[in-house]
Amino acid sequence: MTQPGHKIVMGVTGSIAATKSVELARLLAGACHDLHIIQTEASRHFVGEAALAAASGHPVASDLFDSSDTFAHLELARADLLVVAPATANTIAKMAAGMADNLLLATYLAAECPAIIYPAMNHRMWNHAAVRENVRLLGQRGVTVVPPETGELACGETGAGRLPEPAAIFCRIQELLGEKITGDLAGMRLLVTAGATREPIDAVRFISNRSSGKMGFAIAEAAYMRGAAVILIAANCSLPRRPGIRYVDVSTAAGLMAALESDIDNCDVLIMAAAVSDYMVSGKQTMGKLERKSKINLQLEKTDDIVSRLGMNNTSGLKVGFAAEYGRDKLERARQKLRQKKLDMIVFNDISRSDIGFESDENEITILTGSGRDVFVGKTSKAECAHRILDLVAAKG
Ligand SMILES: Cc1cc2nc3c(=O)[nH]c(=O)nc-3n(C[C@H](O)[C@H](O)[C@H](O)COP(=O)(O)O)c2cc1C
Repeated sequence: MTQPGHKIVMGVTGSIAATKSVELARLLAGACHDLHIIQTEASRHFVGEAALAAASGHPVASDLFDSSDTFAHLELARADLLVVAPATANTIAKMAAGMADNLLLATYLAAECPAIIYPAMNHRMWNHAAVRENVRLLGQRGVTVVPPETGELACGETGAGRLPEPAAIFCRIQELLGEKITGDLAGMRLLVTAGATREPIDAVRFISNRSSGKMGFAIAEAAYMRGAAVILIAANCSLPRRPGIRYVDVSTAAGLMAALESDIDNCDVLIMAAAVSDYMVSGKQTMGKLERKSKINLQLEKTDDIVSRLGMNNTSGLKVGFAAEYGRDKLERARQKLRQKKLDMIVFNDISRSDIGFESDENEITILTGSGRDVFVGKTSKAECAHRILDLVAAKG
């Protein structure tokens, strides 16, 4: 995916988020970097050495006193970049204190290259004055500290402490190394929609749906990593944003339409993953708040169909739609949509299942193509689904 050559040392420490390190290692090694992983003793409770070695393409180092390689820490320190992801409160404290009682810490002290760390921990740990002070100190000494994301944590609590997704860390590292990301979508311009539109009832209430935008965001990120220029039209999404992707925020179906209209001519591929409201409230909405009554009648009217409104049947770019269906004949209904809307592909997902789709990090999809060849992608991460959709886009584009 990118020019060969950077030697990256990646420290993996004892956070529950260490499971994500395997995916990050796969991305970095896949981009032809010479990746060497140092695992702390505590991290072994969360991620296996074999998985990290397989993903990085090198044996994992962990022993400071390895008799076969006495000065391993000095050799490892001759890197282009040191990444610690995830970085525990413990390792951060030891880095700040200049301690060197394991291979990762000794390597950090001996390294003269840039260092980037990704703290990940419970939100109360992250907010502790000692952790904040250590992070500040490391920042002052030139270490790039990427703050954790806010969201649901592995312990079940909510707050700041989550390790960002491997794709986001990968993009940041590539940028730091000054790498131009190239791939099979290089030169392609993708326009992606994501999220759920909101149709106002009054100033505080609205009609919407359960789409979180995760699928569209996953597609945008995957396309960016594969070299595409990506614009993401986000309808009410509170998901982390990535450098390198242009985000356009919209709220209503009409807003989404306007955003599409202004960018449609500048794209080669349109992927419509947003769940656009089929109905909006008729007439002029009350600007204030409707009074609470025992009954209230709302008259709804259909929103414009995006494909016909934008005259997209006539545009030359590749068009990919989504069909969230349930009940009998669900696949057949998706197939009808593909034909009626003259799309090149439609991604079907079964919304009767609670373990996939809306709000979930996983999906199970069937990609219907005009050629009649269906591609089934069994239950997997939305990132993987995104790549499978883009494989077909790359093949057609
Ligand atoms: C289930 C479990 C999860 C943990 N998750 C984290 C975490 O996310 N972040 C953190 O800073 N420490 C976490 N810890 C504590 C560290 O594993 C512990 O401080 C350890 O000494 C870190 O060692 P290391 O920094 O050398 O890897 C966790 C401990 C347990 C038992």
